[in-house]
Amino acid sequence: MSKPSKVWIVDFGSQYTQLIARRVREMSVYSEIVLPDISSEDIVTNHISALILSGGPSSVYEDKAPDIDPKIFTIDIPILGICYGLQLMSRHFGAKVHSDKHREYGRSTIQFRKKSALFQNVEDNTTVWMSHGDHVDSLPEGFDIVAVSENNAPAAIEHRQKPLLGLQFHPEVVHTVEGQKILENFLFGIAGLKQDWTVGHFIEQTSTKIREQVGNGKVLMALSGGVDSSVMGILMYRAIGNQCIPVFINNGLLRKDEQFEVVRKLRKMGLPIRMYNYSAQFLNALKGIKSPERKRKIIGHQFIKAFEEISKKHKDLSFLAQGTLYPDVIESRSVNGPSQVIKSHHNVGGLPKRMKLDLIEPFNSLFKDEVRKIGRELGMSADILNRHPFPGPGLGVRIIGEITAKRLSILRKADDIFIKELINSGEYDRVWQAFAVLIPVKTVGVMGDQRTYENLVALRSVDSSDGMTADWSPIPNAVLSKVASRIVNEVRGINRVVHDITSKPPGTIEWE
Ligand code: XMP
Repeated sequence: MSKPSKVWIVDFGSQYTQLIARRVREMSVYSEIVLPDISSEDIVTNHISALILSGGPSSVYEDKAPDIDPKIFTIDIPILGICYGLQLMSRHFGAKVHSDKHREYGRSTIQFRKKSALFQNVEDNTTVWMSHGDHVDSLPEGFDIVAVSENNAPAAIEHRQKPLLGLQFHPEVVHTVEGQKILENFLFGIAGLKQDWTVGHFIEQTSTKIREQVGNGKVLMALSGGVDSSVMGILMYRAIGNQCIPVFINNGLLRKDEQFEVVRKLRKMGLPIRMYNYSAQFLNALKGIKSPERKRKIIGHQFIKAFEEISKKHKDLSFLAQGTLYPDVIESRSVNGPSQVIKSHHNVGGLPKRMKLDLIEPFNSLFKDEVRKIGRELGMSADILNRHPFPGPGLGVRIIGEITAKRLSILRKADDIFIKELINSGEYDRVWQAFAVLIPVKTVGVMGDQRTYENLVALRSVDSSDGMTADWSPIPNAVLSKVASRIVNEVRGINRVVHDITSKPPGTIEWE
């Protein structure tokens, strides 16, 4: 394969930097995220075709605000500055940047002041997403204003001779209605790049990176049966063969028949996966625990213990591989300081030092739909790739309150009925994620002539693209009725079924 054109995305700390990388990948262009300490020589020696300067939380006039080698503005490489990137570029060209009292956050519209290739085929008054308090005050030397925001502040600027452009808003987020078009105009119309980056390239590059990182060592590859770890397992096994040791841990919190199905399907794909049963250990450790965060911590800890034991059985193990994705990293990261962790997803975070295994997470900059694309390229079947996401702590966070063997058995049966009916009615592939939640609240019912006093089950179905936001997903009434009637009739211990119609935000997808 010939070398694809390359874009560097300089990361000034924005929460959207990975999203820029994703947008660029979507346009079949290869990109790398780099730190601001790159020099103009690095750009030349690495044959970089265009630069995107990301947003960031700092103000350019702060003492420790990240800066960039000023020579990059002299080497004639096309540069798109986004938000902080725009302000940094403006300051280099002598503009004043100030913190505005009338901050613009969220949706705004822009009005064009000058024709620009950046806005080719983009409508005037298009909606954009702003998220920064600073504004460019005076225009940088040699630049024109291309568009202004509702407050008449510069929203887009461009240099009169050089391919230097800046946007005050974020083209990479979906709320900027024509953001993809604007990025396309930059990459193809202005920088003249080719669409030559494919999933095949990604697989090849990731395999090379894995081989380099692993050397002669061995990797304990933990598979959950979910899309992410299954795709990674196949990719890893093909990259390093028997240096990869694929294992499946039954933590006792799996769905009905899950362990056998997962192992059967992955073995069929050629993965020599070994199954270990740790359900007694997990369930013992969870006895009496009701707090969701404590459950997660205990489950995470039990996984580590299991990995530790299993790793002792294999010589020369030096890595633990996990299919962590970018949204997992974001969701587990603190949002507004240390107290704002929304949910600590168990599979993110360090390993205890005594374990002497390094974590390897080759997918931690990818989104789920991208992993599915990789899986398709690797020849994996739709029934593995289209599986709904399933959280690491499994049914543990779908039983509100204490986890007991009896409750697990009730939930397994109810969940299985719901999922099977979704598959039978053709709804499963349309819905992004669906499952049942056991709510240990007793309600009164009547069956035959008998009064019942049993538990409640909630059905959850959501549409989403990456799990970070979601809408509840309507299911046809006939399907819901059938599911409800089957659950109440067939599952002892449940006498009422409800459908959760909360979106995220303000709800989360899981109930715990
Ligand atoms: P929430 O409930 O945070 O879920 O809106 C977003 C997505 O993440 C999954 N999820 C988890 N995945 N460990 C995981 O690996 C966890 O602790 C965890 N909690 C939620 C959830 O199923 C949904 O797809």
